Amino acid sequence: MENTAYYIGLDLGTSSLKGILTDSTGLVMRESSVSYDVLYPHEGWTEQDPAVWICAAEKVLAALSEGVSESVRGLSVGGQMHGLVVLDERDEVIRPCILWNDGRTEEQTEYLNDVIGRKKLSVLTGNIAFAGFTAPKLLWMRENEPENFARIRRIMLPKDYLAYRLTGVFSTDYSDASGMLLLDVAHKCWSHEMCRICGISETMLPRLYESWEVTGKVLPRYGLPECVVTAGAGDNAAAAVGTGCVTNGACNISLGTSGTIFICQDRFSVDEKNALHSFAHANGRFHLMGCILTAASARKWWLEDVIGTGDYAADEDGAAAAGDSGVIFLPYLSGERSPHNDVGARGAFIGLSATTTRAQMSRAVMEGVAFALRDCLEVAKAGGVMPAAATLCGGGAKSRVWRQIMADVLGLPVNILQTEQGPSLGGALLAMVGAGEYASVEAAAAACVRVSETIMPDPAASARYEDKYRTFAKLYPALKAVR
Ligand code: XUL
Repeated sequence: MENTAYYIGLDLGTSSLKGILTDSTGLVMRESSVSYDVLYPHEGWTEQDPAVWICAAEKVLAALSEGVSESVRGLSVGGQMHGLVVLDERDEVIRPCILWNDGRTEEQTEYLNDVIGRKKLSVLTGNIAFAGFTAPKLLWMRENEPENFARIRRIMLPKDYLAYRLTGVFSTDYSDASGMLLLDVAHKCWSHEMCRICGISETMLPRLYESWEVTGKVLPRYGLPECVVTAGAGDNAAAAVGTGCVTNGACNISLGTSGTIFICQDRFSVDEKNALHSFAHANGRFHLMGCILTAASARKWWLEDVIGTGDYAADEDGAAAAGDSGVIFLPYLSGERSPHNDVGARGAFIGLSATTTRAQMSRAVMEGVAFALRDCLEVAKAGGVMPAAATLCGGGAKSRVWRQIMADVLGLPVNILQTEQGPSLGGALLAMVGAGEYASVEAAAAACVRVSETIMPDPAASARYEDKYRTFAKLYPALKAVR
């Protein structure tokens, strides 16, 4: 392996840090991951100690680079978006990171949307406030932890904290910065007015880069002497790169802890109600994104926490055999982001009877996630954006049953790729562009992303799901009325 150039893509996820080592054609040579916990200090709150990410990254980097460290030419990090990491004047972390799926900022989100006003936010940033975004978290800290707030010198996103520790460089990229509600996405600069509204100074924010731009080198103590680091991307933009979704209208769906539908846009645009996020892409352009807070994590909850099994294969067989049933699952276990923007939303099984089986409920969990993503697709369609196909990535993409359900519910051909680790591969591709291996993100994706299978929607199943989706769509408003 000595004469070849290698690249590392890291994905700082919610439940683990995953990494891959690839050659310059994107072939995955090694994989490594380290899991960690989410802390739930109160109901609806989610936090993580950033030190845990650094320990995990050190282990993953050591495993990936063992024996080839001199040949690693580039690295970049993709990661969970929106998290608030704050450092004091001694460069120490002030409090645990508040994560993307934390629901504590309901009041601050309402203040931003209703008092500052959705229209103004949309003009300033291209987006409205959602509870998981970074700006409402800053307002929450200012109101609830004023001593901590007063100590803030640097504000970072999770992957940028990891990159800061790896390189010593305080940087971010446009895709991840878009989710802070501090960036003027259309003009790609920090919004002075949003900084003022949040009571912070722009000097606390990192320098902005395109995702493939080199920000620095890995510090000597990590033993990667030839390795440049690029700015990286939010995990969904990184996944879009790693699944080849880099041309106008291309669509990637991720079934990870969260579920996302990501549609590339050459030009910046917003939907009528700002129900979808309008963010920068890692290829220098833009994207629309719907994010549901519970996706593969709904299946994990159902199987591991409720049923008490880790046997996903047996469950898969049961769900495949279960066929149609009247059971419907609402996946709002952590409230919901897109399109409802409601931290108080909760999950539900509807339509149970004395003959309902576990297998039917397992299948309903997968269908419910697909329906929630369909809600987001409907918003895009209403704005005239209709993808012709989608790629699927994330842990949920491993399930054959779920793949077919996604194709049938969305009515789209679904491409499965050789690696379902979209964000890590995207990271490696961004590193390749930064190191000069490819001239552009598009060229890297064209050379390195390989489709292994295309799942076509089954017209009969799609027609049945159409009816079931119409029932699903009535349930959130109906249940909201009885809270
Ligand atoms: C996107 C979002 C999630 C996280 C999960 O807006 O909040 O997809 O990035 O890692």
